[in-house]
Amino acid sequence: MTKEWDAETYARNFNFVPEYGQALIDILAPQAGEKILDLGCGPGALTAELAAKGCVVTGVDADANMIALAQKTYPNITFLRRDGHSLNLGVQFDAVFSNAALHWMKLDDVFPQVAKALRKGGRFVAEMGGFGNIGTIENAIYTALDKLGFNRADFPLPWHFPTTAEAAQKLEQAGMEVRYTHLYDRPTLLSDETGGVRGWVKMFGRAFVEKIPSLQQDKFLQLIETEVRPHLFKDGKWYADYRRFHFVGVKK
Ligand SMILES: C[S@@+](CC[C@H](N)C(=O)[O-])C[C@H]1O[C@@H](n2cnc3c(N)ncnc32)[C@H](O)[C@@H]1O
Repeated sequence: MTKEWDAETYARNFNFVPEYGQALIDILAPQAGEKILDLGCGPGALTAELAAKGCVVTGVDADANMIALAQKTYPNITFLRRDGHSLNLGVQFDAVFSNAALHWMKLDDVFPQVAKALRKGGRFVAEMGGFGNIGTIENAIYTALDKLGFNRADFPLPWHFPTTAEAAQKLEQAGMEVRYTHLYDRPTLLSDETGGVRGWVKMFGRAFVEKIPSLQQDKFLQLIETEVRPHLFKDGKWYADYRRFHFVGVKK
């Protein structure tokens, strides 16, 4: 399970995440009537888009705040609090869809769960951080921890960005055929609402921020900002150095 998410702030200020997910819906090419599972659905914006296309959707997420907000926003859709590592849904789907969520999970555990949730020939269509994603921010986080005298070993990464080869091997091990992969750089504008790179770290780097005594948190964020500024601040705007990974697997 992940740390608790600030679901309201995520839904209000970080809507670039589901907005970028539109391209993934195109890859999924959902058909009306298909049974689709949205894994790591968050506040449900993309789940709702799939429902609007006539799919019979179920959104699952490990985070209670996310599921509560999704259910409140879209009362006619089924949302369940489930950990991707142990889905146990007892139903088989035509497709499993997942946007910006798998890098928070252990692929060795989640891929077999996805395979179990798919009918034979069912497709697994996902987007996640790919190898090297947010490398500049990650380096700056550890540099800031060093400067504040913390031990890096006490701050393990809360995410994992696999190489294409690693993900493909794990998909095959889980009984899926790899039909498509695409790894690409996607510098992502962090609008004023996100709070720039500081806001990004507060939202997605909670695992780090929460371990730092509150009196030092501001300094931590300031050190990160200073470190990444030459690379990620351009023409008065902040960009996150996202590198994303799309893939399609089909259950054998
Ligand atoms: C960045 S959000 C993406 C939400 C949504 N898919 C979207 O496009 O807006 C990542 C989501 O993954 C969920 N997540 C992380 N680990 C999970 C796990 N083990 N099982 C299920 N969901 C998980 C988080 O709770 C969070 O809602």
